[in-house]
Amino acid sequence: MKLAASLLSADFAHLARDVARVEGAVHLLHLDVMDGHFVPNLTFGPPVANSLRPHTRLPFAIHLMIERPAQYAPRFAVGPEDSITFHVEAADPPEEALGAVRALGCRIGISARPGTPLERLLPYLDAVDLVLVMSVEPGFGGQAFLPEALERIRALRRAIGRRPVEIAVDGGIGPENVRAVVEAGADVIVAGSAIFGKPDPAAAARDLWARATKGS
Ligand code: DX5
Ligand code: ZN
Repeated sequence: MKLAASLLSADFAHLARDVARVEGAVHLLHLDVMDGHFVPNLTFGPPVANSLRPHTRLPFAIHLMIERPAQYAPRFAVGPEDSITFHVEAADPPEEALGAVRALGCRIGISARPGTPLERLLPYLDAVDLVLVMSVEPGFGGQAFLPEALERIRALRRAIGRRPVEIAVDGGIGPENVRAVVEAGADVIVAGSAIFGKPDPAAAARDLWARATKGS
């Protein structure tokens, strides 16, 4: 299992400093890229992600909440440990996004909004390394966890079967529900406000990790 810190709740004027604070306490950095079209919010794109790359050894998990993932994925400087996740609902057809990400040599993820039927993702399970289950409506940090995500994680786990596909879960995860998310079948926990929204992000991350792994 892995813990990912979402930079959406970090201080965008001090990204390298905030990343350094959690470097030893998380396994991945989750980067939320938003285009103001796919979601009603704007964050950052390849120039910011690529500038941050030399400042940390943590792998990047890039979450593209954009309409044109096939067009923009190639602009990210990624390696085999990094991942790029696109949405099945984006304007670029999933097959094109898959091809664009595969050509980069990084890990491939696919995601869906909470209201999108899981069936839309199933045709791609043989082609991806991870599925990102959204437990909030994509677009903003700090929202409440949607409890129906737990059943979605379980259903996805059954559908994945023995394939080597990870389940990552993103949105509204904190100390109070992280264990339930793990028990439902999550392999990667993404947390933004529960880490960077706290006065001591490393301590918050360690506490989350302790709760996630308690008893297992
Ligand atoms: C929401 C983003 C999430 C967000 C999670 O659109 O995809 O990654 O940062 O933030 P929290 O953990 O605060 O819900
Ligand atoms: Zn995200």
